Amino acid sequence: KRVAIFLSGGGSNMRSLVADMTGDHPARPALVLSNRADAGGIDWAKGQGIATEVVDHRPFKGDRAAFEAEIAARLVPYAIDLICLAGFMRVLTAGFVVPWQGRMLNIHPSLLPKYRGLHTHARALAAGEAEVGCSVHEVTAELDEGPILGQARVPVLSDDTPETLAARVLTQEHILYPAVLRRFAAGDRTPIFLP
Ligand code: GRF
Repeated sequence: KRVAIFLSGGGSNMRSLVADMTGDHPARPALVLSNRADAGGIDWAKGQGIATEVVDHRPFKGDRAAFEAEIAARLVPYAIDLICLAGFMRVLTAGFVVPWQGRMLNIHPSLLPKYRGLHTHARALAAGEAEVGCSVHEVTAELDEGPILGQARVPVLSDDTPETLAARVLTQEHILYPAVLRRFAAGDRTPIFLP
């Protein structure tokens, strides 16, 4: 399977996915795509000899359909089988998602269905949650919806801040996402729950 990883930032999740796609893993990283030319993940991917594409969303001035059509067109030469969103900070509408339904994953830093959207750890702390975590799910047209393919749980400690929580959850993301992709790329949608 040929995997495209979409990111907007440093790409620590992308790096974890790439590191796992070796040996008998059924997938290989074929492309790293970002909406930002300055994304750290793009530089890292180039250093690894992985193809990269940048589609800056700004010239499209809110014309989401045109932005998404450009992304779709950029994917064609790479013969992509699966898309992994990993810190990709642009909402993708049904126009892009529907043709990829069942072949597109995302990782979200909360125990979905709780805390869809942004600032998940701050919201969980404010709500007094005893635990937080991350979820890998199939991407559908509804934001942070879609079938859950994996979750990892992390206890909230009394002195936690959103930053300390995010760091602890990120460590789990780097374990969960590769495990889910390895299974999903083999055609197995059985969800994984950690620990
Ligand atoms: C992670 O918190 C992930 O849950 C969210 O965006 C962040 C990605 O970080 N989707 P990175 O760019 O993979 O380091």
